[in-house]
Amino acid sequence: MFEENGIPREDVLKKLDALLAQDATYVSGHPIASMSTIPHELGAHVFAKTLEKNAGRLHTFRGTAEVEQEVIEMIGDLLNLKKPYGTTTSGGTESNILAMLAAREINKKIDAPEVIVPKTVHASVDKAAWLLGVKLIKTRVDKEFKAVPKAIEKVITENTIAIFATAGTTYLGQIDPIDKIGKIAEEHKIPLHVDAAFGAFVIPFLGEIGLGKYPFDFMVEGVSSISADPHKMGLAPIPAGSILFRSKKMLRAITRKIDYLRGAASTQTSILGTRPAGPILATWAIMKHLGRFGYRKIVVECMKRTMFVKNRIEQNRYMKLAINPVLNILGIESKIVPIEQVVEKMELRGWRMATSPLPPTIRVVVMPHVTEGALNAFLNDLDDVSTTIENV
Ligand SMILES: Cc1ncc(COP(=O)(O)O)c(C=O)c1O
Repeated sequence: MFEENGIPREDVLKKLDALLAQDATYVSGHPIASMSTIPHELGAHVFAKTLEKNAGRLHTFRGTAEVEQEVIEMIGDLLNLKKPYGTTTSGGTESNILAMLAAREINKKIDAPEVIVPKTVHASVDKAAWLLGVKLIKTRVDKEFKAVPKAIEKVITENTIAIFATAGTTYLGQIDPIDKIGKIAEEHKIPLHVDAAFGAFVIPFLGEIGLGKYPFDFMVEGVSSISADPHKMGLAPIPAGSILFRSKKMLRAITRKIDYLRGAASTQTSILGTRPAGPILATWAIMKHLGRFGYRKIVVECMKRTMFVKNRIEQNRYMKLAINPVLNILGIESKIVPIEQVVEKMELRGWRMATSPLPPTIRVVVMPHVTEGALNAFLNDLDDVSTTIENV
């Protein structure tokens, strides 16, 4: 109900607190399957003091425009691109939509556009195709749930406007063979978009800490664009995403002139008009403050706890991992009973579970807020539940 006369401030806050008591709080070490986390304290501070700033109106907020450009350049540096063309976005969904829009716009002559995707792509790619009138051609994945380059090449037609692949899949944190797919993209002169919404702030550091080198970014010549979300492992407040293009032409393809805005800032490249500048400014501050060293330390911690979960699952007779974890994401399969039975029992114990369909797994994402204590409690319950199910 929308009251005629407002209610006192204290009462409003009390009511709101009562409603929000139902929410999970990250400070408790949960949830254990979220891809966002507690924003870095500096980011929260910057966001709170820049609430009125509008990144859709950069003629008014000129300093913000400069900061946004620096954010794109810093992420470009992280992803091995000296001169990136890009924009900040509201997250991976918007970035993936923009990548598909750019591919469609530079291929306007194609009447029935198709995009080839391994079937492990994030649901936002389906959404993008739905919004943009593009047909998705889904290709198989291998035993480790990685894209199969040959399967991709086989379905290229004259209607193919782009290939999408993922570096850090949502279900398992798997990294598609971007170098091999990149070669195919180059040979056929088709743009390759890499969805590294999650992986961008993790994969670059894995090599440096001895956990594997993965050519996934602009170092691979065939890569034309990358989604990278600061609001996931970048520790920025929501909504903070980005898309980077190798060529100016692709950024130009998603640029619209807004008739009532003035000067150099009279165009917009994101889908949204008015949008918060706070997360962009916060991303800038966090990246400047943490540097590569700070992010590497966070990745080390998250991977340590990932290995802790891996070891515990390997000792559980009823459960197994779908793949050896590559990033700080794990997919847990049930060896004997359908996974849904395990999930139901865990929910009864108060866990808010997340599952993936391919393969049917329980998802665990070891974000910085997920403590060893929370993981221990989860794994103890999982041990208990799996044993009781078997004994029923
Ligand atoms: C690989 C990948 N891409 C895109 C997205 C969508 O990101 P957002 O929810 O920030 O729009 C996600 C979210 O989980 C993701 O894991």
